[in-house]
Formats: sequence, C-alpha cells, structure tokens
Amino acid sequence: MNVQLFKLILFFATFQSLSCFQLDTQEYGNAKVGERCERDRNCIQHAFCFTHMTCQCDQYYSPTPDKSMCIASAGLTCTDDSVCSSMTNAVCRQGICACKDSYILDINNSSNCIVRPLVVGDLCQRTDECQDTFDRAMCINGRCQCITSYHFVNATGKCIQTRFLYNLCTKDYECVDFDNKNILECKDGQCVCKNGQETCSRGATLTSIGIFVVLLPFIY
Ligand SMILES: *[C@@H]1O[C@H](CO)[C@@H](O)[C@H](O)[C@H]1NC(C)=O
Ligand SMILES: *[C@@H]1O[C@H](CO)[C@@H](O)[C@H](O)[C@H]1NC(C)=O
Ligand SMILES: *[C@@H]1O[C@H](CO)[C@@H](O)[C@H](O)[C@H]1NC(C)=O
Repeated sequence: MNVQLFKLILFFATFQSLSCFQLDTQEYGNAKVGERCERDRNCIQHAFCFTHMTCQCDQYYSPTPDKSMCIASAGLTCTDDSVCSSMTNAVCRQGICACKDSYILDINNSSNCIVRPLVVGDLCQRTDECQDTFDRAMCINGRCQCITSYHFVNATGKCIQTRFLYNLCTKDYECVDFDNKNILECKDGQCVCKNGQETCSRGATLTSIGIFVVLLPFIY
C-alpha cells in the first residue's frame, strides 16, 4: 500500500518536473509578428513582445511577408554561416551577417543580397553601386550607364573617357567614333582611322567639311 502510494507520488513528481522542464525550454510561441502577446515567449522565434502587446522581430531580424517568421538580416551577430542562412546570398564575415562577395544588399530588404553589377547595363539600385564598379557611371532607370563622353571598356571593366578622332590617346580602346563603331585606333598618341584611311566616319567627314568651310574664304 505504502509502496503503491510512493510510486504514485513519484509518478506525479516525475510528470510535474517533466512538464515544468518542457515549459522552461519552450522559448517561443506561435504569435506572429503584429499579433497580440503578453510576454516574449508567446511570440515566434527571434521575436519579442513589444510593450506586452504585439510581437515584433528582434533587432537584425526582419519579418517575412506573411509575418510568420523573423529572418536574419545584415548586421546580425553570428558565429558561423548557418546563423545567416535565412538571408539570401549572405555569409558570416567578421562576426556579422553580410552579403557574399560580388553581392550587395537589396535596399528594400535587408535579408536579401542581390548580385553586384558586373558590366554596364546590369541592374542597379543606387548610383554609388555603379561608381564602385565602373568609376564614371550612374544608375539610370535601374541600370548602370557610363556618364556622357565616357564609354565602357570590357578589357578594364571601367567607364573611361572617350577620345574621338584626332584626340590624344594612349590605348586603342580609348578611341571611339561618334557612331560607337570600332574603326579608330591609337597611333602615335592620337586617335586615327584604322588601316591608315584618311576619313573613316561621319564625324571625320564632318570635321573635314568643317575645316574646308572655314578655309573656303581664304582659298577664294
Ligand atoms: C525597391 O522598392 C521600390 C519602391 O517600392 C521599387 O521601385 C524598386 O524597384 C525596388 N528595388 C528593388 C531592387 O527591388
Ligand atoms: C526579403 O528577402 C528574403 C530573402 O530573399 C525573403 O525570404 C523575404 O521574404 C523578403 N522579405 C520581404 C518583405 O519581401
Ligand atoms: C569581357 O571581359 C570578360 C572578363 O574580363 C571576358 O570573360 C569576356 O569574354 C569579355 N567579353 C568580350 C565581349 O570581350
């Protein structure tokens, strides 16, 4: 009889301590971002109960569109990449979640890294992203473009100043015709027509006519 009672008490004690243990380790609940709460443990993981009323994501966590999760965002303290894995294209760098190399942060979503512009014409969000990569470039209509009288050179990956016919130059790729055709070269420090042609472009023709018109009064 005594033994049975003891067993019963032991059973309930074990059950009690087990359920207590479970409650203690239950660090988070089901209340989504924006939903009502009384304490932090009512809210989903990586969220807290703001002023004992509504759940909000912890600092450096951002809500998913359906508000059912708080996911890592740039700036979160991390020990390894797995902490940052709910971000897209991110790694743990120097103890902080950050975009992988050749990725930049989406200005609309700090949990999302998007590919950095590589060539002119690639998508951009801000002018400084284009400048970082191409120097003299701007973000126009969401794409990187070289500024006026600069052009993109694939060999250097930069926007460089355009040298027109008879302008000074040091490299062939600096010389570009007005029509952007590849008909000029750099010879003896000057942009000239390829193959030693005298006139090779409309620009050159116009220049010749211009000189001719200017000289006309002196000729006659
Ligand atoms: C960011 O949001 C703005 C305004 O909602 C939108 O015009 C732009 O395209 C978005 N940018 C990206 C990279 O999604
Ligand atoms: C932000 O980007 C992450 C990762 O790509 C995505 O899971 C999340 O839904 C995005 N958040 C919003 C509000 O679009
Ligand atoms: C541009 O440069 C990249 C690497 O610098 C090279 O892989 C690619 O073939 C080049 N494209 C052209 C059209 O020359």
